[in-house]
Amino acid sequence: MDELKDVLLLATKEAGKIILQYFNTAFKIDHKEGINNLVTEVDKLSEDKIIEVIRAAYPAHTIISEEVGELIQSSDYQWIIDPIDGTVNFAHGIPICCVSIGLMHFNELILGAVYNPMMDELFLAERGKGATLNGMPISVSAKRDFKTACLVTGFPYKWPDNTEHPIKVFERIVLEGLPVRRLGSAAIDLCWVACGRFDGFWEYNLNAWDVAAGYLILLEAGGKITDFDGAVYNVFEKETLATNGLIHEQMLKVIRKK
Ligand code: IPD
Ligand code: CA
Ligand code: CA
Repeated sequence: MDELKDVLLLATKEAGKIILQYFNTAFKIDHKEGINNLVTEVDKLSEDKIIEVIRAAYPAHTIISEEVGELIQSSDYQWIIDPIDGTVNFAHGIPICCVSIGLMHFNELILGAVYNPMMDELFLAERGKGATLNGMPISVSAKRDFKTACLVTGFPYKWPDNTEHPIKVFERIVLEGLPVRRLGSAAIDLCWVACGRFDGFWEYNLNAWDVAAGYLILLEAGGKITDFDGAVYNVFEKETLATNGLIHEQMLKVIRKK
């Protein structure tokens, strides 16, 4: 496991250096599937570097990465990569974005790293061994009272089912007078619940690369994550509700569709 962790950290740090180097500079920006869903040349540079580092150590491992898709190999290991989570922030010079890399073994997440190079914050988790921020153990908040919770959410760029549900949930929570933030990086949202800055996060229509690393970091920090019905979470599904565990039932009541 130490060798896998070293490769994970090397890939994360190398990609972080690229993001930092290009932050607030002029770089090429393209649009994908919708006018505000951006991809920059830096996403691709970051992704190339991550894949290069992983391939050099583990040429046969499967890679699922946002911009290149799935590079299938005959392996029980799957690296799930978001080369920049929070690309819209990155493109606007907003320092809330990160590299996010999760590693699955036999379909179970075993390692996760999320690194925001602008804040120099590295979140790391290993299954069964807890979660850390820059090497210090982290845990979710102790907030029990939903009415005084501080929450974070995000909205999809596309509305595949034309559902109004995300807006309705947002409306319900805001009308209860709760502070809700929208940071623009699902991986950072999950990590900020993991370290107690937020008490809960929900979002509809995320992809595995947005959540894989943050999911393990949250679990290892003592948090709870389910779908919007309270059922077992799967990073390949579309509903994400992550909390400190203590406000989970109350969040479910607000969020449930029926
Ligand atoms: C996005 C971010 C954002 C979320 C979007 C994602 P990207 O990822 O995680 O917070 O609301 O749904 O697509 O495009 O910046 O990698
Ligand atoms: Ca993403
Ligand atoms: Ca991305």
